[in-house]
Amino acid sequence: MGIKISGTGSAVPEHVLTNADLEKMVDTSDEWIVERTGIKERRIVKGDNVVTLAEKACRKALEDAGKKPEDVELILIATCTLEEFFPCCACQVQARLGAVNAAGFDVNAACSGFLFALATANAYLSTGLYKNALVVGSEVLSRLVDYEDRGSCILFGDGAGAVFVEPAAEGRGIISVVQGCDGPGGVALHCKTDALDKIHMDGRAVYRFATRQVPVCIEQALQKAGMKAEEVDLFFLHQANLRILETIAKRLGIPMEKVPHNLDRYGNISSATIPVLLDEIKKRGKMVAGNKIVLAGFGAGLTYGACVLVWDE
Ligand code: ACO
Repeated sequence: MGIKISGTGSAVPEHVLTNADLEKMVDTSDEWIVERTGIKERRIVKGDNVVTLAEKACRKALEDAGKKPEDVELILIATCTLEEFFPCCACQVQARLGAVNAAGFDVNAACSGFLFALATANAYLSTGLYKNALVVGSEVLSRLVDYEDRGSCILFGDGAGAVFVEPAAEGRGIISVVQGCDGPGGVALHCKTDALDKIHMDGRAVYRFATRQVPVCIEQALQKAGMKAEEVDLFFLHQANLRILETIAKRLGIPMEKVPHNLDRYGNISSATIPVLLDEIKKRGKMVAGNKIVLAGFGAGLTYGACVLVWDE
């Protein structure tokens, strides 16, 4: 038995930080950023935080699924930008939602976090321990971004996405999952818990890792599912850099029409990129029952993951 996504929701801050704004902060240009990344603007919190963004996204996902907070049995929140060690984000969101029947905890696998949380929900629900879950990616990267480092500050934004998951019909929902870590490669992207530390990134190393590892991981997940890349309708890939998406598509031999993207408007929102994009594409009515879908990403750790699912309504 796999799980299906029966509701989606997202919450992005209203404040927009454009490439023109960044031109005033560091030695960069709109032309360079668009050409090297595809990003035009990103959203930055003014007043919100990881918990309030997650709560907003969860409320929308519940509404979309036609569920009430007290129906929720498990809350899994992927985040790497929570402001406190504890209580975890999931417990704070449980309180704010009034999801009195839900257990919850956080998952930190950086930008792959949503995929790891979704796979965790899949494992829990498959055993029958819980009947449903809210799976969330919520991040306030702007807190950790060094706005004097032009090599990284142009990439990141803030936001949250949530999905409500339940058991799927036979042969539908999540069919296969592949995950992994390259711990030794972790030095390429790190940030200490010290309140003064900021993101340190070797952009080229992360780029090489993503373009090498993600296609391999997707192929492995497809093989486990008994599918071929050309059969897949949509690939929801972690929104880090348009060039990374194009390289992955090329390596898999798939057209870019099957790789939806919104990074031009939001930049890299770490664990929130995939659920925010899922919400956007679902609300546009682009997914119908039976569609074959791949979710895949990579992040600090270094972590990576992919899952294959058959859309169920
Ligand atoms: N504006 C203008 N010039 C710049 C900028 C900028 N913002 N940033 C770097 N440059 C310069 C560099 O100094 C360098 O100049 P030099 O040739 O004189 O030394 C030149 O541009 C090329 O720099 P590269 O680093 O080689 O540029 P690249 O094409 O690799 O693009 C980028 C950099 C966009 C960061 C790319 O490497 C990338 O996207 N990497 C992946 C990063 C990523 O996805 N990180 C998130 C991981 S997910 C997570 O868990 C948080």
